[in-house]
Amino acid sequence: MKYFSCAYYPEYWGVERVKLDAALMQEAGVNTVRVGEFAWSRLEPTEGVYTFEWLRESLSILGEHGVQVVMCTPSATAPAWLVKQHPEVLAKDKHGREAWFGVRQHTCYRSPVYRRYVAALTERLVKEVSGHSNVIAWQIDNEVGHTIFGLCHCEECQSGFQLWLKNRYGTVERLNAAWGTGFWSMDYSAWEEVRLGDFSQTLGASHVLDSFRFHSEVKADYIAMQAEIIRRLHPGAIVTTNSPSGVSDRHRIFEGLDLAGVDIYPSGDGYLDTSYHSALFRGMKPERPFWVMETGIGGQGYSGAPHNRRLRAQFWSFFAHGAEMMEIFRWRSCLSGYEKDLMGVLGHNGVPRKRYQELKACIAEVKGVSGRLGELPMPEAPVAVVFDHEAHWAFSSGHMGEWEVYEAVNQWAHHAFAGYGVDVDVISTNRDLSGYKVVVVPALTHVSEAFATALNSFAEKGGVVFLLGKTGCHDPNGNYRSEAWPDHLRALAGLVVADQLVVVNLDRGPSAPVSDPAFEGVIDGKKICGSAQHWLADIELEGGTALARFTNSGLEGQPAVVENRFGAGLCLYLGATRIDDETMTSIAGYLLERGGIERVVGLPKGVEVARRGDFTWVINHTAQPQELSWSPGNEVILGCYAEGKIMLAPYDVSIFR
Ligand code: GAL
Ligand code: ZN
Repeated sequence: MKYFSCAYYPEYWGVERVKLDAALMQEAGVNTVRVGEFAWSRLEPTEGVYTFEWLRESLSILGEHGVQVVMCTPSATAPAWLVKQHPEVLAKDKHGREAWFGVRQHTCYRSPVYRRYVAALTERLVKEVSGHSNVIAWQIDNEVGHTIFGLCHCEECQSGFQLWLKNRYGTVERLNAAWGTGFWSMDYSAWEEVRLGDFSQTLGASHVLDSFRFHSEVKADYIAMQAEIIRRLHPGAIVTTNSPSGVSDRHRIFEGLDLAGVDIYPSGDGYLDTSYHSALFRGMKPERPFWVMETGIGGQGYSGAPHNRRLRAQFWSFFAHGAEMMEIFRWRSCLSGYEKDLMGVLGHNGVPRKRYQELKACIAEVKGVSGRLGELPMPEAPVAVVFDHEAHWAFSSGHMGEWEVYEAVNQWAHHAFAGYGVDVDVISTNRDLSGYKVVVVPALTHVSEAFATALNSFAEKGGVVFLLGKTGCHDPNGNYRSEAWPDHLRALAGLVVADQLVVVNLDRGPSAPVSDPAFEGVIDGKKICGSAQHWLADIELEGGTALARFTNSGLEGQPAVVENRFGAGLCLYLGATRIDDETMTSIAGYLLERGGIERVVGLPKGVEVARRGDFTWVINHTAQPQELSWSPGNEVILGCYAEGKIMLAPYDVSIFR
């Protein structure tokens, strides 16, 4: 871990306090801070008047204490004067309601006026700051897209969307054909008739999908515009951003930046959610360590009693997953503002107490141990789960559409494998599959020819493919294909999905059936009795073998889980969006076995295993002591190992070589 960081607000605390804080940071080993992401009104209090003195002095003081800086562009917080002068920069929601001053992320990413102001300040700021040798990197904006309205529907965006459609389709007739507008009298006769949509508006699926594609490009372009200025005026600085929203193609955004930045606030007992998000963002820029640009320390986001020791497990987990920066949000709890209850490393009185001591201890430990770990390669996972933004958007549209379902299913598929102590990557469809043994494809609604070719050849050469649910049933516009599914993958799966049964949404609303559709069979010599949710496939076998069949519903007697040998490898298809955890775990275990991947036997729930290079981490994310009979290496670098057992105190960590 290179960077031990905190989000820090010198514009709020003032230079005198920076002197105290910098000394405290140095003592704790905090060697980096992130500065300025919400500081516009203190950098440019009125148009063209720049007040950089506090910044200059703060940067120098921090530098004197060995603290490096990730400088931010403050474009998430347009100041009052700008909004007053140019109310047209305010974002609008789908009902045409305007955003208001006093919040953050209230402006439109496409607005040319707003972009002009952002560019002007960014130029001045970068010129000012690039001379400070301790400024090593830039964060563009803050969590782009997590705005008060989600998506902007202002007139700039509306006309931009129409132009975007014109470029994409050429003629309105072609748009009508691509969207399938014959249903509900949706035909358009002019570009101006088309308005932006989102999934909560009962709009056609391709309409929503194209709206999301448009918004994604707007954000990518907004970020690229800032990146260009920074690179031109501050060559050598690392340029990134943190957790852009899901309505943006994050793979593409980070391709254009130097590394992937992510904000991860661990939740309840969701230690695997944390691993998932590490893997997801690691996959956005796979060749480089990623930066955790925000994580919590004060209990926010945790369920149950907050525990200071928990930070240690979190810290090591990020590191084991390939993070190079670990940043705490935030250094000190603010006395005012919307987030005044959000606890920082220091409390409201600014006096170091338990959280400070804990952070200091964590940093000391990681620094101490790091010497023995040397330069570590990124994790090399044998299992990959495919995450596709377009599939996510397509899955969110139409009357079955729900934003959460695709993400939840993707995470759930990851957890089934990671729960065995196996390293799992989360990848885009463009990644080279050759290093993997098992590739998991959950609900990839549209399968491109290129990806199908890659999957087929992966299986041919001995790879294990796991296809789930609604994979390969859409055309590129989110419409169903009339030919049997999964498109391009029928031979691989050894079946066709000839029809489907839509069951119920995963949220278990009042219309949920009394009992779920059930299936039974034998996998890996063991009997399984599973239950399915959301969506079922009506399968006809074409060479594949049914390992399990539905036992009720209109599909009684038909295949639910199908295995097919393919070349030197195999493919398993699951005919449901989601099934019960226990059966999914059995299936994952079976596929790991087929892929020749070692599972950790008896791994307690809440204990994570992760590997980098020759080293294996065993991390207890629970408040209880845990024990595990396992020996992942000959040398114990950290932790307690005796008589063949790894012993872990609450939130304890062991490292083996
Ligand atoms: C993040 C955001 C921070 C802060 C934090 C609170 O999403 O970037 O500025 O609001 O949440 O949890
Ligand atoms: Zn707009």
